[in-house]
Amino acid sequence: MLTKKSTLGFAATALVLLQTALVLVIPTSAASPNPTAPLQGVVQRLLPTSYHNIFDFQIVSDITPPTPENKYDVYRVSNANATNNGTHILIEGTSVAALGAGLKYYLEQATEAELTWTGNRFNELPQTPPLVPDLELDTNQVVTTGHVRGSFVPWRYYTNVVSFGYQFAFWNWKRWERELDWMLLSGINLLPAMVGQEYVARQMYKSLNLTDVEIDDFFTGPAFMPWQRMGNIQGSWNHLLTKTPATSAANELIYKNKWIDSQWELQQMILARMQELDITAILPAFQGFVPRALVSKFPDAVFKTSSAWSAFPEEWTTVTYVSQTDPLFSQLTTQYLQLQQQLNNGFKSNFYLLDLYNELIPDCMTPECLKSTTTSVTNALHSVDKDAVWAMQAWFLLNPVWTPEATEAYFAGMREANGTPFIIDLASDSYPAWEATEGFYGYDFGWSLLSDYGGLQGLFGKIPTLLTNPYEVYKQYPANFKGMGVTTETIHQNDYIYQLVLSLPWRDPNQAINGTADLERFVRRRYGPSKATPLVQDAFNKLSKTVWSADKDQESQSKSFIEKMPDLDMLVAGFMGTESWYDETIVVQAWNQLVQSALQEHNGLIPSAFKFDLVDVTREVLLMTILPALHESLVDGYKAYDVNKIKTYGRQIVSLIRDTDRLLSSNVYFSFSAWIREAKESIDPVRNLSQVTFQAAPSKPTKAGYQQFLESNARDLVTWWGPESNGSLKDYASKQYGGLLSSYYLPRWQLFIKQLEQAADAKRPWTQTSDNFLNLTLEREATWQAEIWGQRGGESTENTNGQESVEIVRELWTRWRDIAIRAATGAKI
Ligand SMILES: *[C@@H]1O[C@H](CO)[C@@H](O)[C@H](O)[C@H]1NC(C)=O
Ligand SMILES: *[C@@H]1O[C@H](CO)[C@@H](O)[C@H](O)[C@H]1NC(C)=O
Ligand SMILES: *[C@@H]1O[C@H](CO)[C@@H](O)[C@H](O)[C@H]1NC(C)=O
Ligand SMILES: *[C@@H]1O[C@H](CO)[C@@H](O)[C@H](O)[C@H]1NC(C)=O
Ligand SMILES: *[C@@H]1O[C@H](CO)[C@@H](O)[C@H](O)[C@H]1NC(C)=O
Ligand SMILES: *[C@@H]1O[C@H](CO)[C@@H](O)[C@H](O)[C@H]1NC(C)=O
Ligand SMILES: *[C@@H]1O[C@H](CO)[C@@H](O)[C@H](O)[C@H]1NC(C)=O
Repeated sequence: MLTKKSTLGFAATALVLLQTALVLVIPTSAASPNPTAPLQGVVQRLLPTSYHNIFDFQIVSDITPPTPENKYDVYRVSNANATNNGTHILIEGTSVAALGAGLKYYLEQATEAELTWTGNRFNELPQTPPLVPDLELDTNQVVTTGHVRGSFVPWRYYTNVVSFGYQFAFWNWKRWERELDWMLLSGINLLPAMVGQEYVARQMYKSLNLTDVEIDDFFTGPAFMPWQRMGNIQGSWNHLLTKTPATSAANELIYKNKWIDSQWELQQMILARMQELDITAILPAFQGFVPRALVSKFPDAVFKTSSAWSAFPEEWTTVTYVSQTDPLFSQLTTQYLQLQQQLNNGFKSNFYLLDLYNELIPDCMTPECLKSTTTSVTNALHSVDKDAVWAMQAWFLLNPVWTPEATEAYFAGMREANGTPFIIDLASDSYPAWEATEGFYGYDFGWSLLSDYGGLQGLFGKIPTLLTNPYEVYKQYPANFKGMGVTTETIHQNDYIYQLVLSLPWRDPNQAINGTADLERFVRRRYGPSKATPLVQDAFNKLSKTVWSADKDQESQSKSFIEKMPDLDMLVAGFMGTESWYDETIVVQAWNQLVQSALQEHNGLIPSAFKFDLVDVTREVLLMTILPALHESLVDGYKAYDVNKIKTYGRQIVSLIRDTDRLLSSNVYFSFSAWIREAKESIDPVRNLSQVTFQAAPSKPTKAGYQQFLESNARDLVTWWGPESNGSLKDYASKQYGGLLSSYYLPRWQLFIKQLEQAADAKRPWTQTSDNFLNLTLEREATWQAEIWGQRGGESTENTNGQESVEIVRELWTRWRDIAIRAATGAKI
């Protein structure tokens, strides 16, 4: 392992190559004369031509809300502008956000179609756009003068700061554009705008006379930036994993700077579009964490070192920070925010994200100290922006060090400074922080859904809780319950659950929701009315009563055995556990019904979301029901020293993993190749690979080296999650991705099976340590970290393996269904 010192030595030779200045021109919406014009852009991007000119969008100052509480962003969708000459849909709204929600309402009501993460049926819309129906689908009431809706909360927000690593790290503008369209339709009007913020930080530290190396050494690689921003980690380590000259430590610094430049350009496009679509940005703020070298520049200021995070080696954690009560904190807050605004060509928002203690222990826990800390931070923000809203994620409060007394003092400090924070209760469905804080002591807060830590992919939801809990909490704290959101860490999963939560603000919080009817309408939108047959509806109903009816106390989605280091006992309960918590026989029945339904349709006509579901539910059955059962029989064989039995079940496990790998590789949302490709293409997120250039230099940074650096980030995040093969976050953000199963998990299982055979043959005990199992797998994994996808046989570099998902599902269903039925009942197989 390179020491800190030698890293610096390498880097010094590369200084000449550091960042080139960018000239940025941002279009601002101030220049756009018509605030509804951007909505036409959304329509044109998403809908077929015959829909391009049918919408009359109109901002109106006042629409009587449907209930006194549903008074924010009110819209009315009507046929008032219909002419004999064709459909004209009038969408009036009190804001652009309201118009976006109104557009979604029209699409849902009139065409039974919607945009979700995993598909849409917009290409199937009727050629002649239908009028708005008179019948309200969810109340069955006849409405003739237009459908009026409004939100009962002013803020609908999206995402979690870590999603900027787990999900968005490598997105290009095209992908962001689509997500922003989705946000508009989903009614989202508040979003952390975290992309590219290192550009501002870098410039500020330069102005404080830090050298390029001192600054760049502070930044992590692209996939890990969210945790660097929160003071959990610092520095990057990919050169230790890749070990090639082109990805040396010195070149890594160059690549990081190129990355920061291009991300900043991307951020300008995101901000401009957010402004057009009326999505308020929660801007990055100075959070206090700084490069170590800053200490020497301010000898009189108080610096501290944050607690070590997740057992990372000290070099990459224990981040230096400026004491929040030191005048330097306020000074740097001012400098950072002013510089950010200037570099953003004047872009303004009053929301600032500032997480002081995310998974960190405060250095002082006395009420006085905590109080003066939050008073100082609030004052610092106010000194730049008197209307500043301090947005924070309440996740930190889950640490038991936050006694009621400490928590109260933390919030009291803001009150002292007349602060108006906005608190994102990050996981209200499972770890509600509002409870222990009496609804955050009267401060504005939002209720959020989060269950996919690190991007867990299992089928999961808590429908009974979701249908009731947000409204209950709202009724308890009507004055300060100001938002609802999904703070998911990755997307492309459980669409029903997320769209359900995002629909809640637009309903009457005093009316019970009929979940069954709501799900039926979702299925019609997803598959199309003609394919939402009773069989399909029944399958969804079964899923809704099992995987989507998790108990309130279920802490998170599950991990499957495949994502864990193989061992004799692999059942883990609780957070990210592997234990089964739903009736698998019912899920297997739902699987049968979905597959049978698909086989009755012609392949080409199956909507993409249906294909996604087929892959997804098949994945769930193969990995959550069959694999544990095969594993149990394998271990039985070992316990009986029955080598033949081990061989039999070992072969079946290998064949199951290979089958699952092929299945997952057929869908872009489950494809490791697509993930790697996205990472490599992110060298130019705005212009799509066309303009990345390198100056010649002795250390020779190359485009290939840059791409390997990005690939290494992408590989590391979903496997080792850090520099070490044995880190505490190892396999935390594991993925059920085709390509990852075959290249990363399968070798572990093959070794495990072989070692059990050998131990059984010798009639001796086996443990992970007795047979040096971990060490041997780690050696293989270290090689894997340095590989380039596509260079080994069988590794496709396309987004999918080009095989038809439905065909693979049919084949796997035929092969595994009987085993699945038996395994689901808990019988030995
Ligand atoms: C709707 O029609 C009215 C006249 O009936 C017209 O004044 C108005 O401009 C139209 N609205 C839009 C947004 O085109
Ligand atoms: C009727 O529709 C056509 C095509 O959309 C348009 O060119 C024409 O101006 C419309 N006529 C009237 C009277 O609105
Ligand atoms: C940075 O250098 C300039 C010019 O030497 C000096 O005026 C300024 O005080 C220095 N700032 C810090 C923070 O050291
Ligand atoms: C809920 O909707 C379902 C399906 O439309 C219907 O059968 C059921 O009667 C409804 N339940 C209530 C309580 O209205
Ligand atoms: C990049 O451009 C190529 C060719 O123009 C296109 O095929 C590809 O889809 C684009 N990729 C992305 C990620 O936009
Ligand atoms: C990983 O292994 C190294 C070297 O054996 C050791 O120093 C370190 O503490 C281990 N890390 C964890 C998180 O166990
Ligand atoms: C793991 O393997 C390395 C060499 O590959 C060896 O030096 C080390 O002692 C092994 N560790 C254990 C615990 O066997």
